[in-house]
Amino acid sequence: METVLLIGATGNVGVSAAIAVLRSGRKVLAIVRNQDSAEKLFKHVGAREGITTVEADVTSEQGIKGVVEQVKAGKLPAFQHVFSAVGGLYRTTPLLEMTTEELRESMARNWEPNFFAYRDTMPYLLEQNDPRSSWTVCTGSSGDVGQHAGPAISQGPIFSMLQSAYLEAEHTNVRVNELYLGVRVEVDESAEKTGAQKSSDFAAAYEKILANDQWKACRVIVMKPKHFTEPEIEVRIRRVAMIPESEF
Ligand SMILES: NC(=O)c1ccc[n+]([C@@H]2O[C@H](COP(=O)([O-])OP(=O)(O)OC[C@H]3O[C@@H](n4cnc5c(N)ncnc54)[C@H](OP(=O)(O)O)[C@@H]3O)[C@@H](O)[C@H]2O)c1
Repeated sequence: METVLLIGATGNVGVSAAIAVLRSGRKVLAIVRNQDSAEKLFKHVGAREGITTVEADVTSEQGIKGVVEQVKAGKLPAFQHVFSAVGGLYRTTPLLEMTTEELRESMARNWEPNFFAYRDTMPYLLEQNDPRSSWTVCTGSSGDVGQHAGPAISQGPIFSMLQSAYLEAEHTNVRVNELYLGVRVEVDESAEKTGAQKSSDFAAAYEKILANDQWKACRVIVMKPKHFTEPEIEVRIRRVAMIPESEF
């Protein structure tokens, strides 16, 4: 049975991914920061079966690496897929009022763990060389819209990282994709109060990514509820002619 490593598993989007994984008949290996977060995950997913949790600090240099080492040592289930959705820091401070501390906090929470997630899990997926493998990150359209500077800036490097990842992973066993989200999604209990979209409905989009082995280097776009089941797909590998050095 296939297993999906979830990073940022306990958030609105992570819960959605966990639901997708279980619906697809796979198992979840979820990184959580503590037992309270693990309980939150079980509650919002509505199940414990099929979910293994492991505690780690995904914002630290060693956090995700340490989990992969435990998998390699056979202490945790082997995984074939990775889904990353760490972040959720959504401050509205305008650019001209943003302190250096606030900027760094936003990057340390919304960007860096997603980079660690890629750098520290891809070598394992490549080593396993399982042809079913995939690596997916959830990004926000806020990175293009720019309405709130902090969240917007922190999405920018994820977009750029993905462009490099698509090229580096192009001829490997791993399908790297981006789940690009432009609507507000919250765990069902909260969405029922706020009118946001429900995690359990958004789950359909990740189910599609897991199921569709033709999607590679794709931006899977979700801008309205209809896209949960019928996302728009944009292939992102771009080939540009390099300018010869003599012409610089
Ligand atoms: N929700 C949306 O509508 C939406 C829309 C567009 C894009 N996105 C993308 O999805 C990402 C996640 O959004 P979300 O709504 O799921 O966020 P969220 O509900 O706040 O969850 C974020 C996840 O990151 C973890 N986390 C946050 N700070 C942490 C820290 N300091 N140390 C360890 N873990 C930490 C949380 O763990 P705990 O549960 O332990 O706090 C949780 O698992 C966003 O950053 C964005 O890129 C979301």
